[in-house]
Amino acid sequence: MEEIIVNTEGSESLVYVGYRLESTEKLLPESSVLIITDNNVFDIYGDRFPPFPVLKIRPGEESKQLRIIEKLAGELLSFGIDRSGFLVGIGGGVVCDVTGFLASVFMRGISFGFVSSTLLSQVDASTGGKNGVNLGEVKNVIGNFRQPEFVICDTAMTATLPQDEYLSGLAELIKTGIIGDSSIIDILEKDYEAVMKRDWDLLGDLVARAVKFKASVVSEDERETGLRRILNFGHTFGHAIELHKGVKHGFAVAEGMELSAYWSMNLGFIDKQEFDRITGLLRRYKLTSDHTIPPDDIKDLISHDKKKSGSEIHFVFIKGIGKPFINKIPVNEVADFYRQIIKKK
Ligand SMILES: NC(=O)c1ccc[n+]([C@@H]2O[C@H](COP(=O)([O-])OP(=O)(O)OC[C@H]3O[C@@H](n4cnc5c(N)ncnc54)[C@H](O)[C@@H]3O)[C@@H](O)[C@H]2O)c1
Repeated sequence: MEEIIVNTEGSESLVYVGYRLESTEKLLPESSVLIITDNNVFDIYGDRFPPFPVLKIRPGEESKQLRIIEKLAGELLSFGIDRSGFLVGIGGGVVCDVTGFLASVFMRGISFGFVSSTLLSQVDASTGGKNGVNLGEVKNVIGNFRQPEFVICDTAMTATLPQDEYLSGLAELIKTGIIGDSSIIDILEKDYEAVMKRDWDLLGDLVARAVKFKASVVSEDERETGLRRILNFGHTFGHAIELHKGVKHGFAVAEGMELSAYWSMNLGFIDKQEFDRITGLLRRYKLTSDHTIPPDDIKDLISHDKKKSGSEIHFVFIKGIGKPFINKIPVNEVADFYRQIIKKK
């Protein structure tokens, strides 16, 4: 079990990795607490929740909408929640994004915490203070930065995840290994069987490494004006694939990482051996397949990327495992690279 501090300007957030859902109650005030979760998580874990009223949302991306925030805010008022209120989101990235955004705008901001129940939210979504909802198909475009008081990453909860959700989280873990703590890659290569069996202790160790790395990045650049952009490795193409094909986030990011590693190799930043190591791992965990985007659509899909600034994208390349860097590349050039790759396939 580990406690990791995320220090940002004016706030401190604590991430408890390997703690169980039952530890939540002692981190909460005695009253004015409301829990937000989704129906799936409530059905499995509801009887172990702390003793406070629960608001449920429908599982999945469709709940990341402003009208859901409005509806929940109305319910908060009817429960008499005021500025001293506290919201706890128990669930995956969707529940965390919705809870964090609602808490950060309700009465100009009330306190909140998360119990992170998917691998993806444990290694990525629940740490870092980004909260938000989608606008139509454009993801996370309405949002803000506000840190949770605490995050509990209960790795035992990953036991009940559907296999595709688990693998999707592994992709973000691999991303952290590629751009940050390369020991994650070593462990994922060495302990394949235990990872696939979802060994809680091993997962606790891996999640803690990922959270520590993200915490160090976020502490340096909370608002994503520089260093934090490296966390978007694989996401430029990944978001385009996700938008076009509707595949799960992690699988789309895995393909985006493969393409970004390929481009890094083509430009001479990494050698074939490093490229093969990355793609070998992604393939071993069955994260990549062939999701080709029609060449005429790629520019439009990439242009939805929030990381775009004007006609350029902050594209994340690597100089080796654990060595990311950012280049500002014209959107046209990114689209051209994709079209060349497709031709070769
Ligand atoms: N804020 C950020 O920094 C950040 C970073 C990365 C991703 N995200 C967001 O996170 C979201 C994806 O998160 P996710 O992959 O956790 O998806 P999710 O929250 O939709 O959860 C995936 C599915 O698993 C179910 N589930 C959750 N926990 C479970 C458990 N323990 N056992 C069984 N089923 C469980 C959910 O009901 C859902 O059906 C996206 O909306 C993405 O934009 C946010």
